Amino acid sequence: MKVLSNEVYIIGAGETKFGELWDKSLRNLAVEAGLKAIENAGIYSKDVDAIYGANSLAGIINKQENIGALIADFSGLSADGIPSLRVESSTASGAAALRDAYLSIKSEEYDVVVVGGVEKMTDIHGSDILEKSSSILDREWEAFFGATPAAMAALIARKYMHDFNVDKEALSMFSVNDHLNGSKNPDAQFRNKLTLQQAMNATAVADPLNMMDCSPLSDGAAAVVLASENYMKKNKKEGVHILSSAVAEDYLSVGSRQSIYTLTSTKLAAEKAFRKAGTKRDDISFMEVHDSFSIYGLLELEDLGFAEKGKANKLVYDDIKLEGRLPVNPSGGLKAKGDPYGAVGVGQAVDAYRQLTGKAGDNQIKNARYGLLHNMAGTGASSIIHILGE
Ligand code: COA
Repeated sequence: MKVLSNEVYIIGAGETKFGELWDKSLRNLAVEAGLKAIENAGIYSKDVDAIYGANSLAGIINKQENIGALIADFSGLSADGIPSLRVESSTASGAAALRDAYLSIKSEEYDVVVVGGVEKMTDIHGSDILEKSSSILDREWEAFFGATPAAMAALIARKYMHDFNVDKEALSMFSVNDHLNGSKNPDAQFRNKLTLQQAMNATAVADPLNMMDCSPLSDGAAAVVLASENYMKKNKKEGVHILSSAVAEDYLSVGSRQSIYTLTSTKLAAEKAFRKAGTKRDDISFMEVHDSFSIYGLLELEDLGFAEKGKANKLVYDDIKLEGRLPVNPSGGLKAKGDPYGAVGVGQAVDAYRQLTGKAGDNQIKNARYGLLHNMAGTGASSIIHILGE
């Protein structure tokens, strides 16, 4: 039997700024990020075996499907016949594309794969974007009755805060940390620092969550180049090792779950990711977590195994800071860096690549050795985790 032992590395990364980018189209964003990653990797188009492009909502927001072909065409790669596929898994599309590309190299099908993620959400607004961004929920059992992602997160937050006697301040502190880190990230949508007072007193969105508990709706794109160990050796390349990739599912509808404040998909994926990587939680130098709403930041710390259920509030004051024991979201996270659905997971990989190659600028974590990336679909229906390191 053939033993698959082809290790996978990130050899280049690039992204656009995240934000309201009205002067750039979906295709402009995808190509800008892809070319930056390819240039950063120091490779040529002839080296690329395949493209995996992540996107969640272009069909209903931008009325553009066939994203794989679009990206290949506008990157100038169509003439070479390079396979280019779109990967859709809601807000976890980015990590899903990263994982598919990783597996394609592991299986020895390809040596060099470009993974991209793109979303363009701010061309529509008001109830139109609210309805479309809510399509990641269960349409028949949640969205049809008026539920939005913010409303679902608020229900979860209310029950969690009640059962564990956690106050609103703990949620707000998560956003304060994101904004502090985002203020030092040139690619972040929001560069303003937040005081605890500002975070606590912002306009209500879905009680108990206010505007500063919510990620924004964003435009943006990110890309990384993955390469096999064989290719790296032959071409004398250096990169960041993908130690593990893991995915798990939960019920789509929150009401079907055993506990609404337990992210079971995150728990299961984390166990697999740590086991496959052979790392312990103490080894992790930093994490990028999918905090589309502040409450998820707390739940993720718990379900990733860094705090007991109901106790993540103990970590949000000092431990999660850039210079803390367990830095969380050095990039600014979804709250400050932004939340272009399909680009988020790839953007996390761009940030981790920069951290682990010492190129994270003002957000650099000292002696960063291992990074954990957590990308989640909607309210937690799927979680995809990658552990990167030496
Ligand atoms: N945090 C901080 N500022 C925000 C913001 C956020 N989450 N969302 C918007 N803003 C800012 C805008 O930049 C804009 O600033 P400006 O006036 O200086 O230009 C201002 O607030 C108004 O922006 P607008 O787009 O009109 O806000 P809105 O009231 O329509 O939307 C939210 C605000 C919070 C409702 C919207 O960002 C939202 O729905 N977020 C949740 C996204 C979501 O559901 N994600 C799902 C993930 S599972």
